[in-house]
Amino acid sequence: MGFIDEIKEKARADRKTIVLPESMDKRTFEAAEKILKEGIANIVLIGTPEEIEKNGEGFDLSGAQIVDPFNDPNKQKYIDKFVELRANKGVTPEIAKETMEQDYMFYACLMCKCGDADGVVSGACHSTGNTIRPALQLLKTKPGIKSVSGFFLMEVPDCDLGEHGLFVMADCAVNVDFDSEKLAEIAALSAESFRSFVGAEPKVAMLSYSTKGSAKHDDVTKVTEAVRIAHEKYPDIKIDGELQLDAALVQTVAELKAPGSEVAGNANTLVFPSLEAGNIGYKLVQRLAKANAYGPVLQGLAMPVNDLSRGCYADDIVGVVAMTAVQAQQQ
Ligand code: ACO
Repeated sequence: MGFIDEIKEKARADRKTIVLPESMDKRTFEAAEKILKEGIANIVLIGTPEEIEKNGEGFDLSGAQIVDPFNDPNKQKYIDKFVELRANKGVTPEIAKETMEQDYMFYACLMCKCGDADGVVSGACHSTGNTIRPALQLLKTKPGIKSVSGFFLMEVPDCDLGEHGLFVMADCAVNVDFDSEKLAEIAALSAESFRSFVGAEPKVAMLSYSTKGSAKHDDVTKVTEAVRIAHEKYPDIKIDGELQLDAALVQTVAELKAPGSEVAGNANTLVFPSLEAGNIGYKLVQRLAKANAYGPVLQGLAMPVNDLSRGCYADDIVGVVAMTAVQAQQQ
């Protein structure tokens, strides 16, 4: 069974309610039909009767809950919650109502915040920033977590590296700037994500262009300092660095460059030193190795919200919904 089939199986075992707010896109409805048919999650679609009729035509949505944001008996509850959470940022009842009606992502996050849904998947026709921002503003981070980050679960075919070709790579999607403290937190969150999705022990490599002092630069120091913080804060997680990618993955290189490391040569969780490196790195693996790239999956949010690529297919939405449902089971 492939990775995503196992995740669907897990999702089916304890069915969660996931909101799909992009009723302006036919892929949403195609995915909803498949999710309901396969019993992966309960689905809430947000849209006006016109939007649902226009884009959902021909799909069997009989098991879905449809919420019309202009005519929903729960709407006042969501407006009140929005104002309660954001009055200090100038949100009035009028602004709340208008924002929710214009951007259904806010509506979806408020449904989660009020306990009417367990997670959200969006981004087939919205940028990553516009998908993530409402979640950051309304749902916030898990207790004790400072920053949300985004990982990809990479499934590399015919690969004996990592966990039989499975890797978590982060941060590939969210944080534009990171310092050592944030990098250490990303390492811990990524380790937790690897454990919960792959079910094996994470071995976290903190990547750099230097291995164990082979180069000297502030960029390298940022990573070595992150490793020091991570060892201090998360002593139970296997983390090592700074490591070059080959030293992280390949035994023979690890023996030369980082002898004695329990991570080098065996890494399955790769933490990149910048968003450029992470975003370019996962796409290289996806395109050149023809790997499946599941994500970006957000880690560190108080409730699961996940983004889609704008080039996604309905099947990709189904996969991300299954992952979101599994995250919701673990909340
Ligand atoms: N973790 C937790 N909270 C955060 C984070 C974070 N990483 N970033 C911002 N926030 C919070 C802020 O504290 C703020 O909270 P507040 O309003 O209660 O004070 C709120 O989110 C909004 O913050 P802003 O700084 O106004 O939001 P910004 O406009 O910077 O958006 C975002 C944040 C969307 C994550 C931005 O950093 C971004 O666009 N990142 C890059 C996304 C991207 O383009 N990725 C690459 C493409 S993805 C791909 O290829 C798969």
